[in-house]
Amino acid sequence: MIVICKFQSGYREFDLIIILLLLSPLICFSVGDSVVELDSINIDLMNEQRILQGGKNFQQSCMSCHSLNSFVNDRVAKSLDMTSEKMPVWPDDSWNGHPPPDLSLIALSMSPEWLYTYLRTYYVDADRPTGYNNLVFPNTNMPNPFIDLQGKQVLIDPNFSPSKHLGDHALWYRVIKLKEGGSLSAEAFDDYVGDIVHFLTYVSDPSVHERRSMGVWVLGYLGLFIVITYAYFRLVGKVFFKPLKH
Ligand code: HEC
Repeated sequence: MIVICKFQSGYREFDLIIILLLLSPLICFSVGDSVVELDSINIDLMNEQRILQGGKNFQQSCMSCHSLNSFVNDRVAKSLDMTSEKMPVWPDDSWNGHPPPDLSLIALSMSPEWLYTYLRTYYVDADRPTGYNNLVFPNTNMPNPFIDLQGKQVLIDPNFSPSKHLGDHALWYRVIKLKEGGSLSAEAFDDYVGDIVHFLTYVSDPSVHERRSMGVWVLGYLGLFIVITYAYFRLVGKVFFKPLKH
């Protein structure tokens, strides 16, 4: 950025503001705590099975701490029996001032990739009060929710510290490794977390199905309108558009 500003300093201020505005999405996205590259995940919001399974996994692994308050009136929430009475409520001063936040919009405010990588990159760290640290959210106050399912991951290089810059494309599985397996195989565990991420992505924008089914009607209406317009000009419009006789 600094290089660009210097480079542009000969231009008028107005040009500089426009350039800064154009670059602002890049600047925003480059800010983040993660010390590793985020894994990609292909989200298929038409896969209702995965969304429902993710909802069940969420109830099992996350809902003891996290609420989804803006989701309770949704069709999927009703079928999973997620009611507002079942949502946990924490006073602001609980958890040393870091209570588990509501996750209704988390997939929008972070990203599905961030969630997918965050939930799989806990590693043993005796210096943390919970006994675990995280590569995507260093020094997180959230306890590792997956010790039973995933097992224990440890640092490959014991001298690693999360404040170390690893280079832009550090891969998390080059930094930590599975030392003791959990009750799920590595693939089954990735699917388990992937289902939760599908579910949370749906929760952050549940109107996706409605929009798509409405799209068919909108296109149908446009098609019908074209037919009617065409018929109108063929049958009635002909009279109006005849060349005038002198
Ligand atoms: C034992 C309680 C507990 C469980 C279970 C739990 N969390 Fe958390 N979670 C927390 C706490 C506490 C924080 C706040 C961490 C902080 O601010 O450092 C948190 C933070 C988060 C954040 C970061 C939110 C933000 O705004 O930065 C995400 C995402 C998250 N949890 C997702 C999950 C998911 C998904 C599950 C289920 C797999 C889960 N959590 C299970 C306690 C829990």
